Amino acid sequence: MCGIVGYVGGDQVSPVLLEALRKLEYRGYDSAGIAVVGEKEKLQVRKIKGRLSNLELLVSQQPVQGTCGIGHTRWATHGEPSDINSHPHTDVSAKIAVVHNGIIENHASLRLWLEKHHVVFRSQTDSEVIAHLVDFHYNGDLLLAVRETVKRLQGSYAIAVICEDFPGMLVVARKDSPLVIGRADSYTMIASDVPPLLCHTREVQYLEDLELALLTKDEVTIYNLEGEVQQREVFHVDWDIEAAEKCGYEHFMLKEIFEQPKALHDTLFSRINEGKIALNPKIQEALSHCDHLLITGCGTAYHAGMVAKYVIEHFAKVRVEVDVASELRYRTPLCKAGDVAILISQSGETADTIASLRLLKSLGVVTIALTNVVGSTISREADLVMYTQAGPEIAVASTKALTTQLMCLYVIALVMTKTEPGLLLEHLMQLPEQAQLLLDKQEDIQRFAARQFNKDKVFFMGRLTDYAISMESALKLKEISYTHSESFAAGELKHGPIALVDQSTLVVAMCTQPALFAKMDSNIKEVKARGATALVITFDTVHDFDTTADEVFRIPTTEPYFSPILTVIVSQLYAYYCSVLKGNDPDKPRNLAKSVTVE
Ligand code: F6R
Repeated sequence: MCGIVGYVGGDQVSPVLLEALRKLEYRGYDSAGIAVVGEKEKLQVRKIKGRLSNLELLVSQQPVQGTCGIGHTRWATHGEPSDINSHPHTDVSAKIAVVHNGIIENHASLRLWLEKHHVVFRSQTDSEVIAHLVDFHYNGDLLLAVRETVKRLQGSYAIAVICEDFPGMLVVARKDSPLVIGRADSYTMIASDVPPLLCHTREVQYLEDLELALLTKDEVTIYNLEGEVQQREVFHVDWDIEAAEKCGYEHFMLKEIFEQPKALHDTLFSRINEGKIALNPKIQEALSHCDHLLITGCGTAYHAGMVAKYVIEHFAKVRVEVDVASELRYRTPLCKAGDVAILISQSGETADTIASLRLLKSLGVVTIALTNVVGSTISREADLVMYTQAGPEIAVASTKALTTQLMCLYVIALVMTKTEPGLLLEHLMQLPEQAQLLLDKQEDIQRFAARQFNKDKVFFMGRLTDYAISMESALKLKEISYTHSESFAAGELKHGPIALVDQSTLVVAMCTQPALFAKMDSNIKEVKARGATALVITFDTVHDFDTTADEVFRIPTTEPYFSPILTVIVSQLYAYYCSVLKGNDPDKPRNLAKSVTVE
């Protein structure tokens, strides 16, 4: 997904922009560029296809001067990756430059209209129309020109605009695409996400949809589309800089997998006071009256919801409906005022989850955001918010965000259960340490991956929460190792999927539901009879599968409904090592972006 950055201050801007773009690399990109204005210099643009190192080389060969500028990493949607299609885009006379994240849905009609006004386009992108429109409306007032421009745009955008007439001014605007403003004493910055700002400032402000901001080195003024000044809260981000660095790990994904014991600890123990769960009283109140809970999210976040459905229905006996946000937003959810919905999103910026949130709110449902990013759109728009304490998650494949989401959902399940949590809470409190014990055995998983990474097909199967976490395990493996992997409710195997099983298949059986061990054992025998290799993941005290499975990986024993936090760590490591063994970069899987802010 494209990333944008901008800076206006007292320092030479190009190193600042290049460093900030580095911090956005994790979002995925295929070209990059910067535009800079100086007191004496005209607008200078450098942009190029490929990695950021290409841009760094270009800037070192053709330096730019100035203390105000914008930058972009592009993830091609309209038009192939190329130098010309890279951002920033400029108007015809090349005095205005624009970077854009999002999709302009009416770009074709705007383009036709501009062409009738003798504008000659250089690129195939939807974004170029923005630069020409700003120029069309420009009469010496850049803010006004951007305001008139965004009124004509349909779709989603976070944009940053500079103009050579104003070497100390940056104008930004947003709709349905995130944009964070960082504030410091002698400069201001903008970015699509928090990590590029961290080594400069912790004080951030968020633009709301259909707002603009005018930034100088000393001031930020936010406006609505009518030109009225808007007051905005300043959020303090307490993530440390190391959290957004690799710190000696080969990949962010591996680092984030290993951060899980701490992230789980922080997420749980910040909600425990004198041995008891202490949630925000408003959340506690909403949950205690709830008899119909909706949970939604996308991808990994949806899988967290699937686990929660089993757990909450089992312990709290409350009906839970889970749906992917891209479906929920277009169907007719049968809910009534007073129902409660949990919107799960690591980034808090996922377009489908935001749309579902708005739909549910319009139906009178009480909405609780479960997110990792303080001040993100979902956290601001939901009625109530619960933060995971995972720290920044940089790798595209979600790991610590998922397990901390699960931890919050377990806490919610215990609150909804209404009886004294007793032993269940003790089990939860042991999970961070148990996660560490599991990570200490990572070499066993690495060895297993070394033997199996070339399998054509990998099927994950299980029952109840084991099935829910099988879905996440299959997703993780396909995302970063590009292996065809699927998940099945083990009982469904013989209703169709078993037709696919042969000698080239690895079946990973998640077996942590003691009441269903015999059923799982039969399923494992069925796939083995068709030539598959079977790996069983079960508790360290269980020996029911020793003779059936080709290999057994043991996790520390916990309450069976809590096992997904541990079993998924095994799948994360397995996916990670398969990816590395296949020569992929697990941090930047092909075709994927970290934050899906467009549909
Ligand atoms: C998978 C993954 C995605 C995200 C999904 C939702 O590893 O990262 O499936 O979980 O795009 O993103 P958030 O949680 O930011 O809403």
